[in-house]
Amino acid sequence: MARTSSTTRLAVLSASALLLPGVAAWGAMGHEAIAYVASNFVATGTKTYFQDLLGDTSADYLASVASWADSYRYTSAGAFSAPFHYIDAQDNPPSSCSVDLDRDCGDDGCVVTALANYTTIILDSGKTKAARAMAAKMVIHFTGDIGQPLHCENLETGGNGIDVSYDGEDTNLHAIWDSDIPESISGGSTLASAKSWATSLTTAIKSGTYKSQAASWVEDVSVSSKSDIEAMAVEWATESNAYVCSTVLVGGVSAVEDKELDGAYTTKAQPVVSLQIAKQGYRLAKYLDAIVAAA
Ligand SMILES: *[C@@H]1O[C@H](CO)[C@@H](O)[C@H](O)[C@H]1NC(C)=O
Ligand SMILES: [Zn+2]
Repeated sequence: MARTSSTTRLAVLSASALLLPGVAAWGAMGHEAIAYVASNFVATGTKTYFQDLLGDTSADYLASVASWADSYRYTSAGAFSAPFHYIDAQDNPPSSCSVDLDRDCGDDGCVVTALANYTTIILDSGKTKAARAMAAKMVIHFTGDIGQPLHCENLETGGNGIDVSYDGEDTNLHAIWDSDIPESISGGSTLASAKSWATSLTTAIKSGTYKSQAASWVEDVSVSSKSDIEAMAVEWATESNAYVCSTVLVGGVSAVEDKELDGAYTTKAQPVVSLQIAKQGYRLAKYLDAIVAAA
């Protein structure tokens, strides 16, 4: 009986966690889009390696696990991993944005140290395949999270504490950056929307808007040491956090608090969201390639 009730509690907890706006990172659709972009760029050997590790030979092998970490963090077994989804930059937006690992990464870890930790676990042949598969799911997810500007910001719990309105609904600033703005670009919250958005972002990387910058996005991709991985991740976080000053909170909290943001605000945010999704997807491809090269 005890077992039944605790299972029930867990199920209720996970179900309600999925409904809480703004506590996850990019909504599932954003994470899936990043994963599909990555699938479109990984080397053939990388695809085989991760299909085997994840036990999924379908084309969706990365997208299917891309938001697993967001449900795991709300289970009792996974609660320890909640701080791994963000870094609490204690800067002062919109006048000054910055990330400092010593200042901003808490004692329980953050997205920067988590990326290094789980990469090391994937590469550790002494770990079980299950532990390495879980580490892969973490790396796939956190490479996405770090690109969401409000996951690299401490103010108002990454904007969760800033009430806003979107399409007439009460929500918060973090939630609209996770889901509403990405969905306003892709046209929906389904796996199919993620896939078609990823297809257009892939074209933009190969031959369109992003073609000239894509190589620079992956210059610092490295898995050589924990400190190299952390230095790379701090750069990614710094870039993401800079959008808090330039876009997310460009007019300060008062410019967004209790305001309707499905309009001019969203129009200005969309190019940043598309860029961050494309960039983290391309980085994820090259990062997974580097892991396989080092394995
Ligand atoms: C590394 O990952 C393991 C396995 O999930 C976890 O127990 C540990 O707390 C993590 N360590 C750091 C520093 O993130
Ligand atoms: Zn997350």
